[in-house]
Amino acid sequence: MDSSQQFWDQTYNKHYEPRIIDIESYSRKAGLTEQAFLRLIGDVSGIIILEIGCGTGELSVWLAKLGARVTATDYSRSAIERIRSLAQFNDVIDRINAYQIDALDLSKLGATYDLIVGKYILHHVEPFNTFVEILYNAMQDNGRGVFIENSSRNALLMFARRNIVGRFGVPKYGDEEEHPLESMEITTLERRFNVRQYFPDFIFLEC
Ligand SMILES: C[S@@+](CC[C@H](N)C(=O)[O-])C[C@H]1O[C@@H](n2cnc3c(N)ncnc32)[C@H](O)[C@@H]1O
Repeated sequence: MDSSQQFWDQTYNKHYEPRIIDIESYSRKAGLTEQAFLRLIGDVSGIIILEIGCGTGELSVWLAKLGARVTATDYSRSAIERIRSLAQFNDVIDRINAYQIDALDLSKLGATYDLIVGKYILHHVEPFNTFVEILYNAMQDNGRGVFIENSSRNALLMFARRNIVGRFGVPKYGDEEEHPLESMEITTLERRFNVRQYFPDFIFLEC
């Protein structure tokens, strides 16, 4: 197990009480960027979805409750244990298959999907070129991918990561190797996919 995988495994390996994922409040309580991501996902009833890097699994459970059949994947064993118990608790275990698998090994699942989704996973997977081919092969013809990512084009984010995170009592929520998605990686995606990027409004202060 490499150090990043170990980091995520320890992160999820804490006492955990599954909770009910309510369809309405899940999207209502999401942040602005995440709400935009959920809107882009659109109607999922009856479709087959792959989530990559599912973490604790709330998104996959929400999608299953909306009527999709979901394959939830993550390379952390404790993440997969969590999502299985969350799916059971929410009574959608028959609509979700959860696998501990590295994103680079997705071809082992031997399936293709109508929709592939992921939150903050693309910037973790290396080598990215190889991953893009795997992503392409996992998608059905006319399939779609919807991902939410942090971006290295965000100057404020990059400043904070360089100068603030990990200092002054500000914790770093991530492993040592990840890096916000770079333009080069978008270009790599564009070689295989018709890519559209959305940058929801950034609100610093609101009254
Ligand atoms: C930033 S977390 C996001 C988790 C979840 N999507 C969320 O938004 O809460 C990144 C996730 O990707 C997983 N991950 C990172 N690299 C991976 C890889 N190469 N293959 C599979 N999962 C990976 C980690 O275990 C972790 O659950």
